[in-house]
Amino acid sequence: MFITFEGIDGSGKSTCIEKLKHFIKNNLDWEKFVFTREPGGYNLKECEEIRKLLLNKENHIDSMTEMLLYLASRKMHVDQLIKPAIKNCKIVLSDRFFDSSFAYQGGGRKLGIDFVEQLNLKILDNFMPDFTFYFAIDFETAQKRMKKNNKNLDRLDQENEIFFKNTIEAYDYLAQKYQKRYIVIDATKDPDVVFNKVLEEFKKIINFLC
Ligand code: TYD
Repeated sequence: MFITFEGIDGSGKSTCIEKLKHFIKNNLDWEKFVFTREPGGYNLKECEEIRKLLLNKENHIDSMTEMLLYLASRKMHVDQLIKPAIKNCKIVLSDRFFDSSFAYQGGGRKLGIDFVEQLNLKILDNFMPDFTFYFAIDFETAQKRMKKNNKNLDRLDQENEIFFKNTIEAYDYLAQKYQKRYIVIDATKDPDVVFNKVLEEFKKIINFLC
C-alpha cells in the first residue's frame, strides 16, 4: 500500500503528517509503516543530495532540468525504497510524490501537466500511489500561514503568486481526474479539524486493509 500527501507550501501538510506519525506510533503496529518524502527519500543518500541541489536558493536550474532532477531522484526512490517496502507488505507514506511534479513543474512551470505525467509514468513503469491526500488551500491563506510560521523559504517557496495559482489549478485538475485515488481535504480549516478529517479517512483505508 502506497499513500502520498500533496498540497502547496503552507497547506499544513507536513504538520499533519507529523501528527499522523504520532498517532500510528501510539495506536498501530509501527513496524508496518515506512515514512519517506520527496524530493529525497528516507535514508537514501543520493536522493537527498538531489534534494539539496533542487532546494538550494543559490542554484539556477531551468524548468525542464528541474523536472528531470525530481524524476531522477524519484526513480531511485521508487526502486530502492518504495517498491521493496511494498513487497515486504509495508504501508509506505510519502510526503509528496509525482503529483508534486505534475502540479509544480507541469502547472506552475507550464511544462504541461499531461507531458510531465506521461514522462513520469513511462520512467516509473506506470507505478502509482493507491491513495493521495490532497490538502486543498487557496494561495492567500497559504501565504498568511507561511508568514506567520516564519518558514525558511527554499528555492521554490520564493516563486510568485502566478506560479502558485497555476500549481493550485493543476492540483485541482488532478483531483478531478483521479477522483478514486484523491482524498481532498479542506486545508483552510483549523489544523485540528484538518487532522481529524485526515485521520478519519486514514482509518477507513487501514480498516479496509485489515
Ligand atoms: P519541502 O521543504 O519538502 O517543502 P514542503 O514542506 O512544502 O513539502 O520542499 C519541497 C519543494 O519542492 C516544494 O516547494 C515543492 C517542490 N517540489 C516540486 O516542485 N516538484 C516535485 O516533484 C516535488 C516532489 C517537490
